[in-house]
Amino acid sequence: MTRESWQTRLGFILAAVGSAVGLGNLWRFPWMTSENGGAAFLLVYLGVVLLVGVPGLLAEFVIGRRSGRNPVGALSSLSDSKAWSAFGHVFVVTAIVLLSFYSVVGGWILRYVGASVTGAYFANPGGYFDAVNYGLEAAGFHLLFLGITALIVLRGVKRGIESATKVMMPAIVVLLVALAVWGVTLDGAGEGLTFLLSPDFAALEANFFDILPVAAGQALFTLSLGAGTMLTYASYLGEDRSLAADGTAIAVLNTFVGVLAGVVVFPIMFALVGEVGDGGPGALFVGLASAFASLPYGQLVGTVFFGVVALAALSSSISMLEIPVSFLVDEYGVSRPTATAGLVGVFAVTGSVCALDPGVFDLVASTIVDLLLTGGLVGFLLFAGWVLGRDAVAEYELGAGAFASRFGTPWLYAAGVFIPVFLIFTFVSGLAGALGVSVASTELLGVTFSQTRVFVVVSVLVALASFLGLRRADSVI
Ligand code: PFF
Repeated sequence: MTRESWQTRLGFILAAVGSAVGLGNLWRFPWMTSENGGAAFLLVYLGVVLLVGVPGLLAEFVIGRRSGRNPVGALSSLSDSKAWSAFGHVFVVTAIVLLSFYSVVGGWILRYVGASVTGAYFANPGGYFDAVNYGLEAAGFHLLFLGITALIVLRGVKRGIESATKVMMPAIVVLLVALAVWGVTLDGAGEGLTFLLSPDFAALEANFFDILPVAAGQALFTLSLGAGTMLTYASYLGEDRSLAADGTAIAVLNTFVGVLAGVVVFPIMFALVGEVGDGGPGALFVGLASAFASLPYGQLVGTVFFGVVALAALSSSISMLEIPVSFLVDEYGVSRPTATAGLVGVFAVTGSVCALDPGVFDLVASTIVDLLLTGGLVGFLLFAGWVLGRDAVAEYELGAGAFASRFGTPWLYAAGVFIPVFLIFTFVSGLAGALGVSVASTELLGVTFSQTRVFVVVSVLVALASFLGLRRADSVI
């Protein structure tokens, strides 16, 4: 069976941007930003996108294109190691965890498209959200969202994913720009823009190490990094494309849409609700829904807004489903329709658990996903830096052109050495935060070790141990 490939370069870029732009930009970003200090958070997040996101994206691209396989097949075929092949299975699990909660939120969105048309939540937005967010109906809407996702994936890479995202992405951008233009002209919108765009540096300094792991988690989430999606999408790519150019274009477009979404959400919240709301997963649904409820054309604006979010969510959920589908197709020779149908069965159950239990949902949607993506990306980076080594640079250079080719070796150093240390640090602090572990300050040889310093030392040691363990004669570093 010949493997599918993208029809055009633009098709690949739009599909990858489609994966990146999603609930992460439109739902999770306002939630995380409002809980972590507004503009200060945005600043840290943008820094992580640039310094960690783009090199990380390139690592996934290099591994994906070089192997032409799904994450499991890629790591096993390029390394001949059972341990890497076992590690590859983590990505299948990550995809399952991701889509399980994602399609629950996707279901909320679909419901809100309909509810905006009829104005069902207008009388009491908070009460409406509380009544529909979890429970049997939420599980039903999750199944609907999952079904639509599956219908697209079923049609394959070119006819399904590429042709769907080619229509969806321009529609999303045009509609968001229209909403943003309208939003910033509302009376009182300025406060929202200030909240989003002018950072409080004192607060940033005081909370930097609390903001950092959350910003890193959000940056990976929004770029779809650490799950193997970008790897899988790049595996359908030819060797004549510049991975560096495509990766940069994808990161820039995603960031543009992310900030644009902020420009839509925050001014509307401040202008019409008067505050950013109490955050949490309901921020968008309660806060924005209240705003729409107070407008003369609220039904129309609400329908357009939730319609955009639904499109963005679908273009991401298909990329999540594609990971386990490509795994079953590549590794077990299962046909695409059978693989898709079987997986829908699995997600129907795992997603329903998230739809029925808010505790599970919250844990998965914030903490577990951040940890899985961070750990996953560390794995890809170490693989590119230490297992592929020179081959990674060679793959990076294919199709790159003279200018981008100069950055191949510096990229590998960043990807193989510095970024893993940083990500291991965010993983350790994120895990400690989730487990409620805190380390008391201790003094050693005249140096005071605060919790942050202890975590830094632990991260450097873990990274060094990994480097030594993975080092081979032809490793670049
Ligand atoms: N990037 C998507 C969003 O922002 O909604 C979420 C996502 C998709 C994360 C695919 C991870 C992934 F593999």
